[in-house]
Amino acid sequence: MRGKSGGAIALLGAVLVLAACGRSPAPPASTVSSATPTAAPATTAISAPIADNPVQRHVVFPSLNVPLSPRAALGKQIFFDTTLSASGHQSCASCHDPAHAYAPANALAVQLGGPDLRQQGARATPSLRYMDFTPYFTRHLYIPDVEGVEDEGMAGGFMRDGRVNTLHEQAALPLLNPREMANASVTDFSTRLARASYADQVRQLFGTSVFQQPDQALAAAGQALESFESEDDSFHPFTSKFDAVLSGHARFTAQELHGFALFNNPDKGNCASCHLDLPGVGGRPPLFTDYSYVALGVPRNMEISANRDPRYYDLGVCARPEMSRETVYCGNFKTPTLRNIATRQAFFHNGRFHKLDEVMHFYVERDTNAGKWYPKVGGKLLKFDDLPEKYRANVDNFRVPMNRHPGQKPALDDTEITDVIAFLKTLDDGYMSHP
Ligand code: HEC
Ligand code: HEC
Repeated sequence: MRGKSGGAIALLGAVLVLAACGRSPAPPASTVSSATPTAAPATTAISAPIADNPVQRHVVFPSLNVPLSPRAALGKQIFFDTTLSASGHQSCASCHDPAHAYAPANALAVQLGGPDLRQQGARATPSLRYMDFTPYFTRHLYIPDVEGVEDEGMAGGFMRDGRVNTLHEQAALPLLNPREMANASVTDFSTRLARASYADQVRQLFGTSVFQQPDQALAAAGQALESFESEDDSFHPFTSKFDAVLSGHARFTAQELHGFALFNNPDKGNCASCHLDLPGVGGRPPLFTDYSYVALGVPRNMEISANRDPRYYDLGVCARPEMSRETVYCGNFKTPTLRNIATRQAFFHNGRFHKLDEVMHFYVERDTNAGKWYPKVGGKLLKFDDLPEKYRANVDNFRVPMNRHPGQKPALDDTEITDVIAFLKTLDDGYMSHP
């Protein structure tokens, strides 16, 4: 995985060398997004940088021309292979659709899977775009700030609760999850992989005896998937309008610029305090997350049938066995990237909202008008009803825009919300063919 297993560092090196010796010519449109041949978006031709662009920053984009390694090419076949599931009809791409920024094509709060494809998952499926930059889970993420270094607290790790550190380990989870691809055991999976049309490639790359030990076959699939998810451009294209503006090749409209200002303003949206929009180390373009964990108190979602049981709660980070005693983290979920957010159809860990406009209103009216979001039981408002009462104090109520009181004015009014959404739409990939 990029950033940890060495591939990342190698890639960063390649990026810097490329930057130093000038950009390679733009690839033909068909190779821009190798995993999405049918979804090539209409793109804008980018010419010389525009002068006088206050938003321009030093950014270094990864090259889009790197061919896949043999491992990654194998991983690509595995990613799209439905025969590796118990149903025979589900692959990674069924939930992580490349034509939808590797998020689901539908608006379901949670996806269906399992042997009969009728089992509801527990959480909304995230987009896999840009997730390959995720750092290891840590209790203390230190980031540079104006005063030196700031401790961001707990951050990183894959999944919405950070429970796995690498993409090769992550791959085993959906393959064996009874509500997802539902292989009954590692042996069951290994048998399916051994029957795949590309089984000889697995042997070539991972040894002729790879199928004799099911654990090895699973590990091989994990390594191949990790290479694909790290190497393939389609996981990190950086072709949004925001990227074009940042590199000085396009301009925000007045509305987008205003939305961007509100997104950054610590007294208004304050969004950038978690959805970080500054370039990273080496000029890496912003990823719109600091990977930190926060309890936002998202309302319970009755579209998830498990929630009909009043004793059932998704506790997020503290549902991890090794974190179960750290109850201050109950209700905490990872801050996701906002790149391609306008293409998503289910928001937050439980998919409670389906429109960006609802998400925005929730952020700014959660505390000023709580009755709009939470049920009343016996005349009593159950604020933060998706957490057991004893953990409701974990919900963040001090950071803008969630620091208001009943009856106060929301941090953003309707026009301002529209402007922030206009800005968020500039984070969709496909504005230009090449960063
Ligand atoms: C049935 C739908 C479904 C299928 C099939 C599926 N996933 Fe996922 N994926 C999810 C959900 C839901 C999550 C979030 C789960 C959580 O946070 O507990 C997720 C999370 C992830 C993440 C972590 C993303 C992040 O930002 O932390 C990765 C990586 C991933 N999946 C890769 C895969 C791969 C590779 C496959 C195929 C082997 C796959 N998924 C198959 C639903 C699915
Ligand atoms: C205190 C940190 C914090 C602030 C401030 C913040 N967010 Fe978030 N954001 C999060 C976390 C954490 C999540 C995931 C919560 C969950 O799944 O329960 C999230 C989720 C989201 C999502 C849903 C993403 C998805 O893929 O489901 C959107 C959209 C979003 N935020 C937009 C914004 C905007 C716009 C602002 C400013 C008005 C903002 N956020 C301010 C931490 C923050």
